[in-house]
This record gives sequence, C-alpha cells and structure tokens, in this order.
Amino acid sequence: MPIIVQFSDIHIAAGADGEVDDRSGPVRALRNAVSSVLALPERPDCLVLTGDLVDRGLPAEYARLTALLSPLPIPVYPLPGKHDDRALLRAAFADRAPLESPDGDPQAPVRYAVEIAGTRLVCCDTTVPGRPHGELGPELLDWLEATLAAAPRTPTVLAVHHPPFPIGVRFLDELALRDAAELGALLARHPQVERVISGHVHRAAVGAVGGVTAVTCPSTYRQIYLDTTSPGQAAVTGEPAGFAVHIVGTGRPAVTHFVPTGVYRPLMHVD
Ligand SMILES: [Fe+2]
Repeated sequence: MPIIVQFSDIHIAAGADGEVDDRSGPVRALRNAVSSVLALPERPDCLVLTGDLVDRGLPAEYARLTALLSPLPIPVYPLPGKHDDRALLRAAFADRAPLESPDGDPQAPVRYAVEIAGTRLVCCDTTVPGRPHGELGPELLDWLEATLAAAPRTPTVLAVHHPPFPIGVRFLDELALRDAAELGALLARHPQVERVISGHVHRAAVGAVGGVTAVTCPSTYRQIYLDTTSPGQAAVTGEPAGFAVHIVGTGRPAVTHFVPTGVYRPLMHVD
C-alpha cells in the first residue's frame, strides 16, 4: 500500500547575508514537519516536494533544505516552484531523484517518472521562468502524454506546482495553471491517473481536472488567508502548517489526508 507524503511551499529563506538562520520560521517549520513524518506509525514510501522549496533560489537555502530533510529514510522527489532555481534544485537532489534533462540543460523544465511499490509518481514542472503563473506548454504536454501512455495500467499520481483548478481565492486563481483545460483533456485519455497533487496556494483544497480528483497541499510554513470575496485580501494567516498523505494503489480509490504539523499520539483507544 504505497504511502506518498507531500510537502509544499517550504520557503527556506536566507537573510540579507545570504545565510539561512537556524532559528528562522521556515527552518523550524520544516524541522517540525520532518518530525511529524518520522512519528507516523507507518513509514511512508516516499516524499514529494511540490515546489517553492526555497525563497530566493540561493545555494545556501538548498544546502539547508537537504540537510533538514536528511533524517527521512525515504526517497525524496522534488519539483520547482516559482521561487526555485532549476539548476540548483537539480544539483541539490541529484543523488535522490532522476533530475537530468534530456539535453543536459540544467535550466530545462524538470520532469520525470518513478515507480513506487507498484504505483507511479509523475512529476511535471509547471513553472514559467520569471513569471508567477503556471503553464505546461506543448512540449511538456506531449511528454506527459507519452509518459502516461507507457504505463496505462499502473495507478499513477501526477505532481505539479500550480493547481489545475481554481480554489476560489482571486489573487491565487490569477496565478494558476493556464493550460488546465489541455491537461484535463489529456488526463481523460489516461484513467490510471488517480490523483493530481499540487502546491503554490499554501492551503489545502480539493477540486478536479479532467474528471480526476486534484488537491492542493498546505505549506509546511505559512498558510494563505481564505478570502473568497472579490477582489479579496492577499494575506498570510495563522492557520496551522501541515502536509498531505496520499494512499494510492490499493485497488480502491486513492485517499488523501491533510495532516497538521505536530507529533500526535493516541489519547485513548476506542473499541
Ligand atoms: Fe509558495
């Protein structure tokens, strides 16, 4: 029963001196999230990181990120978000994920597929360098079509940074995935895809794309204020940080849990 843990929008941030303070909020938040995963009663099969892993795209930020993740004895599969540097991300995780680009360009979009205990995780970069919105574009859509066609009967999770559905918060929806309709049409041809998982919006939400259930993941650091008015406020809020746990490939529909960061033990047993 593959268990995929998802962290998103970690935003490890260096200060003005280019160094990462060990007491900074994102560092403490990631350390707590790692402790939460280590305290789960069952070890997950992998961790997927759906972008905005660091804040400024600096080497010191990636160095701290990988050090903080190192206690997790499971594979780690990263994707960039709009704050990441593709080349530095590739270098930071080169020994943990198949991140090489086909033409050797370290700034090429990150895309790869891995098998995890009889299921597939397909990771596809939706970032547009220098722009905040998301887009796959014709080349990545073609790659995705071919990649999914290669294993039509294997339960599959597709990971992206930008959500392929509007969550109802206006300023975020203006920065969503622009070619979500094309992605939806593609997914309708590949019914083995059980879940599309994303980040970017710093809060948990559930929607759909092409008939597939799609979710967004909380940030391990700060959550965005749920303001559905128009134009609404673009603000962070004090909601608890968290992560997602996806249970897939069981022969039953995939299940997603949203877990607040923390170490939670049984309080009392129920009959
Ligand atoms: Fe973010």
